[in-house]
Amino acid sequence: MVDIQVVRGDITEENVDAVVTAANESLLGGGGVDGAIHRAAGSRLAEAGVAIGPCLPGDAMATPAFDLDPPIRHVIHTVGPVWEGGDQGEAEILASCYRRSVQVADELGARSMAFPAIATGVYGYPADQAAHIAIATLRSTPTRVRQIRLVAFDQDVYEHLAAVMREQ
Ligand code: APR
Repeated sequence: MVDIQVVRGDITEENVDAVVTAANESLLGGGGVDGAIHRAAGSRLAEAGVAIGPCLPGDAMATPAFDLDPPIRHVIHTVGPVWEGGDQGEAEILASCYRRSVQVADELGARSMAFPAIATGVYGYPADQAAHIAIATLRSTPTRVRQIRLVAFDQDVYEHLAAVMREQ
């Protein structure tokens, strides 16, 4: 049974086997959490990302973590949906980001992993709706991963995730 935890912090400082980044399709790196992870991992992350990309929205692809501090060994790149009001399949794409990232973590043999609040920044996904999708999807995805940490950078995102954990 997977243990899901909601924490406040910087995902680059997590002590897990794999961290998930909220990427764009090129996997070249960008701003937000993607920028933080690419800065910490070094330029080899973008080189590795370009070599395996593009990554379609809802899919997930892994690279090594390069200069990220141990025990982080893997970066799982997933591309969230751009929020367009909610009737363009955004919820299904976001759920797929969480599901595919866990599946990739299983393929890597990861036993612990950390997620940011995918799509809730630049891509504009409402944090309350994203929190429900993240936790419901992670609870319903069979996996050998033992620990999943949802790392909120912002207080409001943290509060939405914590509220969903209490109610579900
Ligand atoms: N640790 C954890 N979470 C973080 C960090 C960090 N160091 N920095 C930012 N975040 C949070 C944001 O506050 C937000 O809640 O990550 C969440 C996702 O926001 P974005 O990083 O903007 O990602 P997203 O909304 O999915 O947009 C992706 O932005 O950076 C570009 O290349 C990326 O084009 C892609 C787009």
